[in-house]
Amino acid sequence: MMNFWGVFLIFVNALVYVQAGRGGNDMYKDDVNVLELTPSTFDKAVYGTNYTTMVKFYAPWCGYCRSLEPIYHKLGKYFNQDAKYSINIASVNCDKDTNQELCSRFRISGFPTILVFRPSKFDPVKNPKVSHAVETYNGERSLKPMVRFLTSRMKNYAKRIYGLGGDALSSWLAGENGSHKVLLITKSYDVTPLYKSLALDFLGVLKFGLVSTKSLDKEHEFKHNVDGKDIKLPLKKEEDLPRLLLFDEYSDKIVKFEGKYNDKTAITQWIIEKTGIKPTEGPLSRKEAKFFKNVRLGKKPSSKKPSSKKINKKPQHDEL
Ligand SMILES: *[C@@H]1O[C@H](CO)[C@@H](O)[C@H](O)[C@H]1NC(C)=O
Ligand SMILES: *[C@@H]1O[C@H](CO)[C@@H](O)[C@H](O)[C@H]1NC(C)=O
Repeated sequence: MMNFWGVFLIFVNALVYVQAGRGGNDMYKDDVNVLELTPSTFDKAVYGTNYTTMVKFYAPWCGYCRSLEPIYHKLGKYFNQDAKYSINIASVNCDKDTNQELCSRFRISGFPTILVFRPSKFDPVKNPKVSHAVETYNGERSLKPMVRFLTSRMKNYAKRIYGLGGDALSSWLAGENGSHKVLLITKSYDVTPLYKSLALDFLGVLKFGLVSTKSLDKEHEFKHNVDGKDIKLPLKKEEDLPRLLLFDEYSDKIVKFEGKYNDKTAITQWIIEKTGIKPTEGPLSRKEAKFFKNVRLGKKPSSKKPSSKKINKKPQHDEL
């Protein structure tokens, strides 16, 4: 037996549906953190990036789509506004006639269908052409499991280097003549999502490495011979970990990051300032300024008007 509230909700649903008109009311049109995609933006947004993308195919009248709506807003905020990891959150309104082609292309038959598009690992020599794997998300529809699932899908482009004092680090620093390198020295054995995300944002323009060590107790390990030159890592004995260093092989200069280690935006800005190199992906990239920003604001990709909405970038809580 349906109770009063059940009947009432059906009535409200029907009312909202009638008012919106068929296919109207895109759920995420006004949310800068969720990309509301159309046939003219889909391919570039999903396939034109090394980011992993989650896409919710929905119909505005469907009850399950609506119960997911607030969670999806939060998911978008987590990854975009809080400048967390390299994941895009997107949606397609399958009730819109103009989106039919997209929804049939992915054989969407129930709502919501949540697909995750994962780019293959980029390798300029072995695998220069990125392809995408598509999988259906069937997990729990709440924030934490969705975040966990998506971050587990991030590719790692940071190289693990064994030993702070060993030859492995000297030769990594010497390799790829004249390039800038970012080195994280950390207690953690795993490459954290934040560091993966940094390496992804600078994919193709900067090298990232990681050394795991328990503590900085052996000063002799700070000295390296790089291409015949003696260099010293700017570390202090027994100082706290993690430490993030930036190495410029042209000048042999190494600098240490002094800001907050959980603030991806601050770290990115520091790298840009020290190297003059801009990230190829992410919030501070050209791709964002030229394309993604307009999609977020619901504009045509070609539109060049400055935006009035600001994307607020707060520091995060997660550590490197
Ligand atoms: C991934 O990154 C590399 C290096 O920046 C770039 O050449 C490639 O086009 C990117 N892939 C996609 C799909 O954008
Ligand atoms: C790097 O460049 C220097 C000077 O141009 C050269 O002597 C050295 O052999 C180069 N190293 C590698 C690994 O190419």
